Amino acid sequence: MSAEYSTVGKGDYREHALEAVMPDGSYTADFIYKDHLIYEGKNKLENMPSARGEKEACETLEIQLYDQVCDVTLTLYYTGFYKSNVITRSSKITNHHENSMAIRKIMSMQLDLPQSDYDLVTFDGLWGRERHKHIKPLSQGRFVVDSKTGVSSNRHNPFIMLKKRDATEHYGDCYASNLIYAGNHYEVAEVSPFGKTRILSGINPHCFDWKLGTNETFQTPEAVLTFSDQGLNGISQNMHHFVSNHIVRGSWAKKERPVLLNNWEATYFDFNEEKLEALIQEAAHAGIELFVLDDGWFGERNGDNSSLGDWFVNTKKLPGGLGGLAKTVNDQGMMFGIWVEPEMINHNSRLYEKHPEWAVQIPNRRPSQGRNQMVLDFTRQDVRDYIVESLVKVFSSANIEYVKWDMNRNFSDMFSLELPRDRQGEFFHRYVLGVYEVLDQITKVFPNILFESCSAGGNRFDLSLLCYMPQTWTSDNTDALQRLYIQSGTSYGYPLSAMGAHVSAVPNHQTLRSTPIETRFNVAMFGVLGYELDLSKLSKGEKQIIKEQIAFYKKHRALLQFGQFYRLDDIFDNNIASWMVVSEDRKKGILGLFQKLTNSSPAIDIIKTVELREDAIYTISNRKQFILADEKQDLIKEGMKPVETECYEAYGDLLNRAGIKLSQQFCASGYNEKIRVMNDFGSRAYIFEQKD
Ligand code: GLA
Repeated sequence: MSAEYSTVGKGDYREHALEAVMPDGSYTADFIYKDHLIYEGKNKLENMPSARGEKEACETLEIQLYDQVCDVTLTLYYTGFYKSNVITRSSKITNHHENSMAIRKIMSMQLDLPQSDYDLVTFDGLWGRERHKHIKPLSQGRFVVDSKTGVSSNRHNPFIMLKKRDATEHYGDCYASNLIYAGNHYEVAEVSPFGKTRILSGINPHCFDWKLGTNETFQTPEAVLTFSDQGLNGISQNMHHFVSNHIVRGSWAKKERPVLLNNWEATYFDFNEEKLEALIQEAAHAGIELFVLDDGWFGERNGDNSSLGDWFVNTKKLPGGLGGLAKTVNDQGMMFGIWVEPEMINHNSRLYEKHPEWAVQIPNRRPSQGRNQMVLDFTRQDVRDYIVESLVKVFSSANIEYVKWDMNRNFSDMFSLELPRDRQGEFFHRYVLGVYEVLDQITKVFPNILFESCSAGGNRFDLSLLCYMPQTWTSDNTDALQRLYIQSGTSYGYPLSAMGAHVSAVPNHQTLRSTPIETRFNVAMFGVLGYELDLSKLSKGEKQIIKEQIAFYKKHRALLQFGQFYRLDDIFDNNIASWMVVSEDRKKGILGLFQKLTNSSPAIDIIKTVELREDAIYTISNRKQFILADEKQDLIKEGMKPVETECYEAYGDLLNRAGIKLSQQFCASGYNEKIRVMNDFGSRAYIFEQKD
């Protein structure tokens, strides 16, 4: 038996989509078809973000089901998006009975497939190790990925894929699902004894218990489903198209994003106007377009143990205020942006002195702290009003054109003083709805600010926040090698324009690894490029290299941010990985080639493309890169040296089908200008341009 939306008590013993104590006190629900509606376009969900769907872009089917005994209606929504190959789904339950009911679990979607020879692909990790790809063959029983941290989490992303065992990056049947939700999520893949597969996705039932009174309605978040017979890259193409066209919105949605310098890893909390001005000048010389002042500009915040909640400028550090600094930045021709962490409160803050009851904690129990901070109770209207008012004041106090919205701890001691004792099971979801309400208001007041969401790096990289903030800080880990895994993993479900990616100093602050400056760039350019290091500490050569990197990025960023992205040889399976972006008209492409470790007597490297026009001739050239003396002391005595020049011409069909051989990698002896010196963590970028 296959079901659209399985309930308890009527003979389906697999995992259910709905579990509720119904108005008659039983767990049994039996929903029968009552009515349906089909219409062009789609409606917004009321109190949460959902996919945008204009009339021409999609069509919606609403199926109304009814449980006559309990007088409860269940509506299932399906919207098909023609161009993205995506179906969004959600469900809504309304209790018409005079008794209340309690929802213990309500999924956004259920998908029953008739077979089970699938691999489940999930994206898991921790801080600094977000969204690493893991593949497991499904077999009888259940496999669950979820989040219980209160946010969509770095532990398991809500994006999952199911691929036929023989499917690859480029070939085969694959399914995928994501959830437009910032809170605890839950995804299940279950193979039944009959060899069928069930997939579920929705709000995590963990600590969830929602009371539904007479005539009350509960709406689930939206799930996003897609299918491709073109392998995992096909899934990514669908998801990227969908996110770019139906999730990200507002004035920055399709606009090229500025190259930024963030002062966090350059100064941490230790800055003053003079230090910042020096950085600002260096940034302007390098061609940076946006200067971002990170944590530490407000209250008495000189470390991570105070002042969250006190959203007013620290004039000891910044006597000229945010306005003065914004002017300095603007005078250098750059935009100015700041960091905030609005959902948090420090014990050591004026706000806590005034409103201890606003911090999430349980009466008579000492609250656990995370990074010395507590979560603000966003289920409360007074808290949300205070935050909106404070942020409106700050964002209007200077010419602020960019905001990094951070959220740096997971939940503990979940409790709201405003909720009755028997409704604490609503806390997690009400918190998420509170965050949405605040974001909705703020982004409406400041429609032109570019928002980037962040949560200790990528702890809340999900579709719901992308509805408000067009880009997300992918990870605090900026080590180029680790970023290959993190960005590759992220790319399965999210487009490059959603991923913040920075070049930082070496040895890297998270891993202590040193990677070449050109590799740090070659990785970061497959995303929204930024720099996060003390530019004044760089050598003349490094400054020159950065200037050229930024010029290259600006020239090609429309393609790098919004082009069609393909994983050619995936980093998870290969020592040499490659990524490629191709323009919509197929006339241009950029390929990044990345090596983990050098091998002695390395094989010939071949780059094989996808999607170039078969009958067109392309020129292929490598980006002008440099090797610094301290990266390769035995070959270069001092200063820097350009790498080999490679230049080819070939038909698209040759490039797509056979590929071209690159020049020989360095191999013990016989170094000359044509030899490709890659080293450990070496990389190159190749530009493909169609000849007229
Ligand atoms: C988090 C972010 C960092 C930085 C710090 C500031 O860890 O991910 O990028 O903003 O907070 O405290």
